[in-house]
Amino acid sequence: MLKNCRCIRNDGRRFRSICGVLVGKAGCRFSSGYFCHVNGCDVMATVELCPYGSLVVAADWSDETQPNLHQVMGIAASSRTLAQAIIPCHSHVTLDLGTGCGILALLAAAHSEQVVAVDSNPRALRMARFNALLNGTTDIEFLEGNLFEPVRGRQFDLIVCNPPFVIAPQQIYLHSHSGMPLDRLCETIVRTAPVFMRQGGYCQLLCNWVQLAGADWRARLETWFDGSGCDAWILHSHSEEVADYASNRISNLAPVAAQREKQFNTWMDYYERERVEAIGFGLVTMRRSNRSSNWFRCESWPEMVGPCGDAIERGFVARNFLEDHGDRDLLETRVRHAPNLQWRQDHDISDLGTAVHSSLHFTSGLAYTAKMDSAIVKFVSRCAGDRPLSEYLRETAAISGEDVCQFSPRFVKVVRRLIELGFLLPV
Ligand SMILES: C[S@@+](CC[C@H](N)C(=O)[O-])C[C@H]1O[C@@H](n2cnc3c(N)ncnc32)[C@H](O)[C@@H]1O
Repeated sequence: MLKNCRCIRNDGRRFRSICGVLVGKAGCRFSSGYFCHVNGCDVMATVELCPYGSLVVAADWSDETQPNLHQVMGIAASSRTLAQAIIPCHSHVTLDLGTGCGILALLAAAHSEQVVAVDSNPRALRMARFNALLNGTTDIEFLEGNLFEPVRGRQFDLIVCNPPFVIAPQQIYLHSHSGMPLDRLCETIVRTAPVFMRQGGYCQLLCNWVQLAGADWRARLETWFDGSGCDAWILHSHSEEVADYASNRISNLAPVAAQREKQFNTWMDYYERERVEAIGFGLVTMRRSNRSSNWFRCESWPEMVGPCGDAIERGFVARNFLEDHGDRDLLETRVRHAPNLQWRQDHDISDLGTAVHSSLHFTSGLAYTAKMDSAIVKFVSRCAGDRPLSEYLRETAAISGEDVCQFSPRFVKVVRRLIELGFLLPV
């Protein structure tokens, strides 16, 4: 069955006929139940097997013609995104909130001594338990209940959560729709998480948030973290106008055109009533910190090239480092360049001649790109953590023919941004 998982995912009929042959000719016995429906020689899979790296997990076969509130989601794009973004820190105890088929709990088990997986859907927990056995993992604790209720009084080094974040007027699937108004579920998780986080611990969740008419969505989002005792970093992937958002989501929900149109109108009425203009997508990472003040950072999510959890963790270290060092102190620190950088020079040709555009890129992780003139690129490439930045300031000013005092504020500003984006790493 495992060998055939690709065929099971892509071609249900073929699976039916293969099983029919097995049932009819080879005398294999299938009975209706958890994994399949049997009707004579017809064996219909009710679950699919989803490969992810070296793992294989079972989840419900998605059948849009018969939506089932308790359907257990397979490995979706959101699961993959969060899987790539999880901070792979050594964790004593990790919580996977809304574990579904258990994929994130299984991945977190690789760097956690103990994993707790919570879901309010009993079918999801049964599936996740099965998947733990299927993948030979025995040390995940599975708990049924609403959000943090089953872990009341406990604290975690890492909390990961791919919540049912779709902002919709109705609840069709537990895995996608919370049944709460607008983005209340994500807000609730953000506001509740801190007491469940150990000092220095992280909480990461994917999020959809509303962008209301006449309101600054960043400012609204920032209020979620008021008094949290956490530093927060939002990576904003994109925003969708509500009409696009509704039609993109409904196309997966309603197979019949007439149903789609009816649902679309219901969703649009809801957004209009609530004054929602657009919906933002992003990753929230928060870290509990006992520093005197907490920071909030919200910026565009760059392309992810492979796992980027390490880069996210370095982003927290960098931001704290910058908060701790005024400009003069900063010049006495040492930094080194990231190991995964590439310098690109594009030569544009026009009637006026040629122009060179120089930029620095990451080749893996959070793949930021920064336009940068070659003097700065050369400065970055020389940074080996061996000398204080003040020496590099003098050198770079001399190479550029600039006065050190006049050049210094610009140099420090650039260095701050390079550290913030991870091009330069404090040593
Ligand atoms: C988007 S799925 C994520 C599944 C899995 N973690 C993944 O990333 O593929 C969200 C999960 O949250 C669960 N869930 C929904 N509401 C919940 C609640 N109030 N408390 C706990 N779990 C909930 C759903 O049953 C579903 O399994």
